[in-house]
Amino acid sequence: MRTRITELFGIEHPIIQGGMHYVGFAELAAAVSNAGGLGIITGLTQGTPERLRAEIARCREMTDKPFGVNLTFLPAVTAPDYPGFVQVIVESGVKVVETAGNNPAKWLPALKEAGIKVIHKCTSVRHSLKAESIGCDAVSVDGFECGGHPGEDDVPNFILLPRAAEELKIPFVASGGMADGRSLVAALALGAEGINMGTRFIATQEAPVHEHVKQALVAASELDTRLIMRPLRNTERVLNNAAVERLLEKERELGPRLQFADIAEEVAGVYPRIMRDGDMDAGGWSCGMVAGLIHDMPTVKALIDRIMAEAQDIIRGRLTQVL
Ligand SMILES: Cc1cc2nc3c(=O)[nH]c(=O)nc-3n(C[C@H](O)[C@H](O)[C@H](O)COP(=O)(O)O)c2cc1C
Repeated sequence: MRTRITELFGIEHPIIQGGMHYVGFAELAAAVSNAGGLGIITGLTQGTPERLRAEIARCREMTDKPFGVNLTFLPAVTAPDYPGFVQVIVESGVKVVETAGNNPAKWLPALKEAGIKVIHKCTSVRHSLKAESIGCDAVSVDGFECGGHPGEDDVPNFILLPRAAEELKIPFVASGGMADGRSLVAALALGAEGINMGTRFIATQEAPVHEHVKQALVAASELDTRLIMRPLRNTERVLNNAAVERLLEKERELGPRLQFADIAEEVAGVYPRIMRDGDMDAGGWSCGMVAGLIHDMPTVKALIDRIMAEAQDIIRGRLTQVL
């Protein structure tokens, strides 16, 4: 399948693995890139620019295909060393950066000068247009159903994607709720040039996370996610668990008086305990509604091959026959 996204990134299939805190290590990024998609290492998970340099080198040992690095600009207790991360990305010869969170304008000159393609992930048409106007090469349009931070507009992909198609000139991928060949064909029909998946890639053999996390995704239904931190305007879609129930109770009790400190126990620094140690009630962790469509834990290659085969069957079979 050839789209503007496969052309832009020099990949075989229009499937991107979005940055994921404590999931997007070299093992997963390399597996996705080796299977013909675009794997992405999550920069901030590495903690320091030097550790990111080592992770990029490790990924390069596992694949000779293109892969990217995610740089997330979100409110943080202590600001990460962004200049250092950008410098390492440039020096390491990485060819794609996925930015997310705040406007990446400040970092674009350095990235563009190094010939790096930038795909910005955003949750609204206005932010997508902003990304286009400042020189991003593509956008990942992240609908309300997505795992992680869906923004505050709550527009699902059935509306958001065609709206993006109406306005954007640069190519975009559909992000949020993507799981299989049906998602890919639907995304293409709505105007996207491919898909970006987060949650679905966690339930794969190569995802370097605890088995409990993968099992939780297979067990979960589309009803099992919750939105947390809405009162702080930092909404995150997470899988429900005991810590999330406790957090939501605090949100109800404190209402507009809620401060980050009130819920720090349920969200700050919980990722290693969940992803690495499998302590499933340690806190809130990002998970999309797409969990309801996850029923197995294939290898990344089996997953991507299945998506592509299914998409072709739908296009050549059902869609052609209904005409
Ligand atoms: C566990 C997890 C961690 C994530 N961490 C990040 C992150 O650090 N930076 C980022 O830009 N997006 C992050 N995301 C969002 C994904 O890159 C992607 O946009 C999202 O998962 C797409 O929705 P889906 O889960 O329905 O596929 C995360 C998602 C998950 C599930």
